Amino acid sequence: MAVLKIARMGHPALMGRAEPVADPTAPEIGRLIDDMIETMYDAPGIGLAAPQVHVPLRVLVYYVPEGRLAGGEPLRALINPKITVLDAETESGSEGCLSLPGMAGWVARPRSVRVEALDRGGKSFSYDAHGYHARVVQHEYDHLDGILYPMRMGDLSRFGYVEEMTKEL
Ligand code: NI
Repeated sequence: MAVLKIARMGHPALMGRAEPVADPTAPEIGRLIDDMIETMYDAPGIGLAAPQVHVPLRVLVYYVPEGRLAGGEPLRALINPKITVLDAETESGSEGCLSLPGMAGWVARPRSVRVEALDRGGKSFSYDAHGYHARVVQHEYDHLDGILYPMRMGDLSRFGYVEEMTKEL
């Protein structure tokens, strides 16, 4: 396994539409997923999409730590994911991204989505995600279409360096 280099906002690798994986069972896809998981934990972060490590494929990994959501969500690797909005009502919350180190912004997203994807065995699986879980999976999915969270922000006055935003006047 290897820790991969993460592209930062502005890098063309983050801007394109990633291609579907032709064979989810190919050994190089398994290696890519293992390396992405190692890179995510090393960063540290809670999610990572293949374009962030300069690979233009529709693959993402994430988990939700217990501190962010009761019970948390286990580590998942999604190949060729699809997202369907279950509840279009949006919820606003703070997001960060390993491609924008040290920064955070306030983003409104649908609060419930259904996720369908393939696992490393090529088997399809699906589940529903709500609240913060729905936010994380939508954020990672956006990377596959070249979308970074500031592009989803309505109010850029709520975008900045975490270190500055937590200061008091
Ligand atoms: Ni991100």
